[in-house]
Amino acid sequence: MAGPDRYVLFGHPVSHSWSPFIHGMFARQTGASVDYRLVDVAPARFRKTVLEFFVGGGLGANVTLPHKPAAAELVNELTPRAARARAVNTIAVKPEDKLLGDNTDGAGLVTDLRQNLGVTLAGKRILLLGAGGAVRGVLAPLLAERPTLMLIANRTAGRAQDLAAEFADLGTIEGGGLDAAGSLAWDVVIHATSASLAGEVPELPRSALGPASVCYDMAYGRGDTPFQRWAAARGVRRAYKGWGMLVEQAAESWHLWRGSRPDTRPVLAALATL
Ligand code: ATR
Repeated sequence: MAGPDRYVLFGHPVSHSWSPFIHGMFARQTGASVDYRLVDVAPARFRKTVLEFFVGGGLGANVTLPHKPAAAELVNELTPRAARARAVNTIAVKPEDKLLGDNTDGAGLVTDLRQNLGVTLAGKRILLLGAGGAVRGVLAPLLAERPTLMLIANRTAGRAQDLAAEFADLGTIEGGGLDAAGSLAWDVVIHATSASLAGEVPELPRSALGPASVCYDMAYGRGDTPFQRWAAARGVRRAYKGWGMLVEQAAESWHLWRGSRPDTRPVLAALATL
């Protein structure tokens, strides 16, 4: 008898991941026999480990830090959004054993904002905080929503300006330092810096936020994140963390691998209790 369908998450470190929990719930929903494991692999062994997994009959992989750019180099083919991000978080096997690399992070963010949280992005002013890999991964899907203006504001202004120039063909996008975000409150503020690892929050001008600004932290964990607490202390009424993005990017990966769309609502409800 054939064993379960095998999937993995490659990362370094990876033990903290919630992906096995999420994909386990998707599998129970659909009655699928799925084995989803965490694989901690150092960068030097990444390529060999991924190829061995697929040669050994693995059906799909997720990829997280620090391997997303390396995964984009390894696959045979990239989806347009993964090519734009130059980063891959999902690998699927295609006919003739070709590996396809996709990036479902941006779609996960947009689906969470639009469908789960009811936040409109079309015609809105969006402020994106940070200019690293996390931001690069979500820019194309966010711009596809047609905001009137997107500003990437970053501690190092030059990185934000470079990123904005690279994506300028996809919409109205600017880049600058954190102080460039001042003067008028933004409709949507998305936090994607690694400052919270040190318990910090980017130093934004007070005028960048108003009570009606919707704040979204791409980070997540038990309890409120530092950015959520910081936003709430400035009178923001709606400040979310990134559980929904995590669940929706997982659902998008599942769809690429298996062709069906899992119901994300029970998973979101389970995580909301944490
Ligand atoms: P990731 O792939 O998670 O985006 P990264 O490429 O290392 O990681 O980028 C980290 C981002 O967090 C950068 O935008 C960084 O700002 P700089 O480009 O100026 O380094 C931002 N960041 C990290 N610590 C920060 C802090 N204490 N305050 C503000 N921004 C910070």
